[in-house]
Amino acid sequence: MGVVVLGIESTAHTFGAGVFDSSGGRILANERSVFSPPAGRGMIPRDCADHHSAECGAVLGRVFSKVKPGEIGAVAYSRGPGLGPVLRVGLACARSLSGSLGRPLVGVNHAVAHIEVGKWATKARDPVVLYVSGGNTQVIALSSGRYRVFGETLDIPIGNALDVLARNLGLPFPGGPRIEELASRGAKLIDLPYVVKGMDLSYSGLLTHCTRLAKTEKLEDVCFSFQEHCFAMLAEVTERAVAHTGKSEVMAVGGVAANRRLAQMLRTMCEERGAEFTVVPLEYAGDNGAMIAVTGALMAARPEKPEDATVDQRFRVDEQDVFW
Ligand code: ATP
Ligand code: FE2
Repeated sequence: MGVVVLGIESTAHTFGAGVFDSSGGRILANERSVFSPPAGRGMIPRDCADHHSAECGAVLGRVFSKVKPGEIGAVAYSRGPGLGPVLRVGLACARSLSGSLGRPLVGVNHAVAHIEVGKWATKARDPVVLYVSGGNTQVIALSSGRYRVFGETLDIPIGNALDVLARNLGLPFPGGPRIEELASRGAKLIDLPYVVKGMDLSYSGLLTHCTRLAKTEKLEDVCFSFQEHCFAMLAEVTERAVAHTGKSEVMAVGGVAANRRLAQMLRTMCEERGAEFTVVPLEYAGDNGAMIAVTGALMAARPEKPEDATVDQRFRVDEQDVFW
């Protein structure tokens, strides 16, 4: 039986609200507002929460211009992981909608939502997932009823490494797209630390090294070498997860999945192994409400009691039972 779910995303920069109709398998709305801190100021959770509180009414207004409130059958929200004050804005918003519409509440894991919207959009059935964003670098696959983490970063996430390198080189935020563009004009491969420990990765040494190199080498070559090393490390760990799990699909999700060189490396690896490679479409790659709605629809058979609704800043992907 189908259900129409309103999903609220509020873990970091983005306040998003989206609606998914599971009977038609269609996203009916996907609206967002993204907080960008004033120049020179980092992202302070309180500022971000204030932005989301101020914007949530307008974002929901745009959603309700496309979908009638009476059509909504359940309200889903991002339970975590994320920034405490920001998560609480999303929960408050979802709770008041659930109360006023008289519909159940469903708490969703943000990482699971990145995976589920990717599966919905790409039609992948049971992929090894490479989740690469500003806050995460994990190789994940479904095993014994949970999304298990097969490998992850031991220090900073890849997206953060790209953003910090860009800042150190005097390039604007977000760093990923600018570094990709410079790297495409690089030619010289500089030897850098390549740190894979077991199934885990480390980027901080590489970052320090490249920041120093930028004083003597061309920026194009530094960016090119940085990408070649970072992405080869990711492809290696992903390949080992494919070999270990015996799965025949690989899916890349998260903001860094937009990088064409990374996709090219992963595609080559998959072709050599006879696996299928897919990337989440850009619209659903960054944080958005639709991904919470898609996952909420899968979980709607088991809503929570309103008094159990809560946020969890450290909600790991492998803590959620995949009962659907
Ligand atoms: P999460 O909370 O899930 O960790 P996030 O808040 O970091 O997500 P995303 O939109 O998933 O948000 O990812 C943003 C990251 O993606 C930034 O670090 C940005 O530099 C990176 N990025 C965006 N486009 C590219 C690109 N073309 N190449 C590499 N990195 C990119
Ligand atoms: Fe995210």
